[in-house]
Amino acid sequence: MRKIRVNLGDRSYDILIGSGLLSQSGKLLKDRGLVGGLVIITNPVVQELHSNNLKNSLTAEGFEVNLITIADGENNKSLDTAGRLYTELADSYAMRTMPVLAFGGGVIGDLAGFVASTYMRGVPLVQIPTTLLAQVDSSIGGKVAVNHGKLKNAIGSFYQPRLVIVDTTTLKTLPSPQLNNGMAEVIKSAIIRDADFFCLIEKNIRPNIDDIDEDVLEEFVYRTAAIKADIVADDELDGGLRNILNFGHTVGHAIETASDFVISHGEAVAAGMIAEATIALKAGFFSEKEMARLKKVIIDAGLPAEIPKLDIDKIKAAMEHDKKITNGRVKFVLPKAIGDVFVSEDVSSTLVEKVLKN
Ligand SMILES: NC(=O)c1ccc[n+]([C@@H]2O[C@H](COP(=O)([O-])OP(=O)(O)OC[C@H]3O[C@@H](n4cnc5c(N)ncnc54)[C@H](O)[C@@H]3O)[C@@H](O)[C@H]2O)c1
Ligand SMILES: [Zn+2]
Repeated sequence: MRKIRVNLGDRSYDILIGSGLLSQSGKLLKDRGLVGGLVIITNPVVQELHSNNLKNSLTAEGFEVNLITIADGENNKSLDTAGRLYTELADSYAMRTMPVLAFGGGVIGDLAGFVASTYMRGVPLVQIPTTLLAQVDSSIGGKVAVNHGKLKNAIGSFYQPRLVIVDTTTLKTLPSPQLNNGMAEVIKSAIIRDADFFCLIEKNIRPNIDDIDEDVLEEFVYRTAAIKADIVADDELDGGLRNILNFGHTVGHAIETASDFVISHGEAVAAGMIAEATIALKAGFFSEKEMARLKKVIIDAGLPAEIPKLDIDKIKAAMEHDKKITNGRVKFVLPKAIGDVFVSEDVSSTLVEKVLKN
């Protein structure tokens, strides 16, 4: 088992990573002073595949387990579903000390996290992420939220978990598009922070996860989670350094939106990384040689290294929309080298357009 400490003063917590950790969860929670009743929030897919290991381990340590499922899918990350969860928590006599275990992908993590942060002004939260994206990204850093209509993550807060338990064996049942979503974040993390890690990815990345050695995959999860932990500990409330986590996402989000979400997050971020690195290249910050390395890794991961043929006006409109919601300037994270990026608000729209048109 590997451990990463997220240093946030009295809100510090551990991320534990290893294969088979679900069956040790009971003990891991007990070690952290949690006892008595608890609530698992999950969905039917994760329940069917993985809940037995978790439940058995909890009951073996004397926990009284209430399991609540919500339907699968992003559209359940809503205030409506949160409302139903509050009712279920009340019906199961959940108390302020009773932990909520968010057991699933990023949708469950964000939703159950939001519910834990608001029910009775906050109950202890434990994240048990089961997708690659959730293990390396969404379960770390304390952002919890639900969507509001078309506005993603519009209602939310910062609420740090007590513990994050990452069992890498859950990845074995993950369909390949979901693995791609996480792998794009793995590659992103190396580009923004860690050139050595990028070399490890270059050597070991495969389009099919079954072809990646288990220990290597665990190392990918560990190093990516460690990078995120380090960044969020520096910038808990997202006012500075966290910006660099958006590498590939300024263009990536716009691609997702312009495609009406037909293009997945991972594919959009891969294309977004190519677009943003090309902006850096054309502006004279990034070299052809490193650009070629980035492209190769993205292709070797089975992700698209081309900007998809979409209506450019739609992509630009989506970036303008994001800009209005933030503070009026489009921020780009630009690489100077693999492992080293900076944030720029000065990229001309002519250059962006040129890159999007290829
Ligand atoms: N809080 C944050 O900092 C943060 C960061 C990034 C993304 N997010 C959010 O995360 C969400 C996306 O997360 P996601 O990509 O994990 O999607 P998801 O939660 O929808 O999971 C994807 C699919 O995989 C299934 N699944 C989960 N674990 C599985 C397993 N082990 N085996 C088989 N199937 C499994 C789920 O049921 C679902 O159908 C979005 O709502 C996004 O806004 C949050
Ligand atoms: Zn992302």
